[in-house]
Amino acid sequence: MSGRNCGANGTWLERCDYLNGWFERMEDEYLFNRDRLSLEDKLALAKNRARKIMEYRHDDLDRRFHVYKVVEISRKLAQQRRLNKYQSDVCEIGALLHDIARANGPNPKHPKEGAEMARKILGDIFYSRKVIDDIYHVIEAHDGDVNPRSEMAEIVRNADALAHFENLPHLIYVSISKIGKGDLEKGMNWAESKLRRELEEKITYPDVRERCRRYYESFEKWKEGLNHEE
Ligand SMILES: [Fe+2]
Ligand SMILES: [Fe+2]
Repeated sequence: MSGRNCGANGTWLERCDYLNGWFERMEDEYLFNRDRLSLEDKLALAKNRARKIMEYRHDDLDRRFHVYKVVEISRKLAQQRRLNKYQSDVCEIGALLHDIARANGPNPKHPKEGAEMARKILGDIFYSRKVIDDIYHVIEAHDGDVNPRSEMAEIVRNADALAHFENLPHLIYVSISKIGKGDLEKGMNWAESKLRRELEEKITYPDVRERCRRYYESFEKWKEGLNHEE
């Protein structure tokens, strides 16, 4: 495999066997037409590629109960805040790829590493560096210490937090099975501190914070009840 058009050396992509199938064919078709594609077409192509790669890397539960939820909420927040078509597309691509570097398990560095992966995955589609930089920033700022500098990044960061609150059973399942490795108390404590951190530090939109606060109260009541039953 040549690794052509896959970033500086293509090493990450060379580890992905999706290149052997649909991706290779789509890439050839795209390269043939690249000069004639509008920005809108390129964004559509990037969305398609991002979706395929996300589906390949994330497991079924993660896809259904987290990533697609982040995409859906990002879309709604972008509509509410009247983002234009370009900004909405960047939000969607960023939301699709935002957790790609932690698809195989917890990874505290996943925002930055995911942004680097997205640059390699999508870098050959756009002549303009600005588009890739916009997507990069959405992913690097969706969690952790990098504060959003664009409305697109702020939307996906808020959507990521809200998705955790709206899908609490999935978050609890992940906390107990993957973080606590079956230890209920350890998993629940991790889930609680994550939710509290998201509520206090991550969410910036007042309406989103209010919704999450109500979910958090329910979680606390439920956790308290669990302790009393023991
Ligand atoms: Fe994340
Ligand atoms: Fe996420």
